[in-house]
Amino acid sequence: MVSAVIMAGGLGTRFWPKSRIDNPKQFLKFFEDITMIQATVRRVAKIFPAEKIYIVTNSEFAPRIYNEIPEIPKENVLIEPFRRDTAACVGLAAVKISLSDPEEVMVVLPSDHYIGDETEFAKTLEIAVELAKEKDCLTTLGIKPTRPETGYGYIKIGERLSLDVDKPIYRVKEFTEKPDLKLAREFYTRSDYFWNSGIFIWKINVILDHISSFLPHLYQGLMKIKNAMGTKKEEEVLKEEYSTFIPISIDYGIMEKASEVYMVLASFVWDDMGNWAALERIMKSDKDGNIVMGFHLGYDTKNCIISNNDKFIATLGIENLIIIETEDVILICNKNRAQEVKDLRELIKSKS
Ligand code: GDD
Ligand code: MG
Repeated sequence: MVSAVIMAGGLGTRFWPKSRIDNPKQFLKFFEDITMIQATVRRVAKIFPAEKIYIVTNSEFAPRIYNEIPEIPKENVLIEPFRRDTAACVGLAAVKISLSDPEEVMVVLPSDHYIGDETEFAKTLEIAVELAKEKDCLTTLGIKPTRPETGYGYIKIGERLSLDVDKPIYRVKEFTEKPDLKLAREFYTRSDYFWNSGIFIWKINVILDHISSFLPHLYQGLMKIKNAMGTKKEEEVLKEEYSTFIPISIDYGIMEKASEVYMVLASFVWDDMGNWAALERIMKSDKDGNIVMGFHLGYDTKNCIISNNDKFIATLGIENLIIIETEDVILICNKNRAQEVKDLRELIKSKS
């Protein structure tokens, strides 16, 4: 059997002012009328039965998860007492699943992605799951870069594992998480570098062995949590151990250090939806290049991203702006600087 673990405890602050501490990216609605986490679960539920889908979140978001995703059994929603980044999140899910089968393959998925072709997505995952069943390795899905993005992990590939055209599996030579712009530009010019999609596939015992080697303190804590699972002390031990974990992502903590890593090249359209400007890559714009969510009337308005809450937005003679109206904030931002919304939010926090 295979389990899917959806990570849904992050913040995603570059979508401010729509995303807030209590309303992060995974709870926003960009397409149709469903949130990103609902879209993720629906996509994953086409491949895995509900009882094999786990969601890892924290105590603040758990009520929303129960509410928005009633199809996943409540006992499969794992609640972290504190935010400790993705290594702890993956570790917690791994120990939980290991109680029933330590050899099971686990597919780890973020909850903040856009995936364009679900059939291709399922096919790529199947290749990775087969590989993880056969080999004691770590596997990630790789994406062909389309820009020198600094917000992603980069994978340098080595030899191809199989000559079968339907199985684009490569050995990973090097994994570099979030390089600076200079390095990202260099990687972008090379044909042997790919983006890490953040979708990982491995056996439970294989990832736990890696955590034991590279993050021994986390491993020891996880073992204590495992021993307390199902007992009266579970919540207490979980809090006690989590309070000692140092936040680190699976990318910095494990992927950059591990040696037995493979990449399956994905061919589906993928986006992390890192900031407002990402909407341009996946949403249809009007004839003037504007992306409008809500009510807007533009005269001589070009290439803008506009979203409103309850006020009607009218614009005249503007270009390349992001205008976001929410209940209490109006953001007006140069589209080329969407990445810096995170810094703006920090500045506002420091002043208030
Ligand atoms: N439960 C839980 N707990 N979930 C978390 C936590 C946590 O402490 N921190 C983050 N998450 C969730 C987020 O909600 C998101 O769904 C997922 O884990 C990934 O976290 P991000 O914070 O969005 O990571 P990233 O986008 O900066 O980087 C990762 O994804 C990129 C592709 O999207 C890395 O894996 C990069 O290498 C990769 O390129
Ligand atoms: Mg992300």
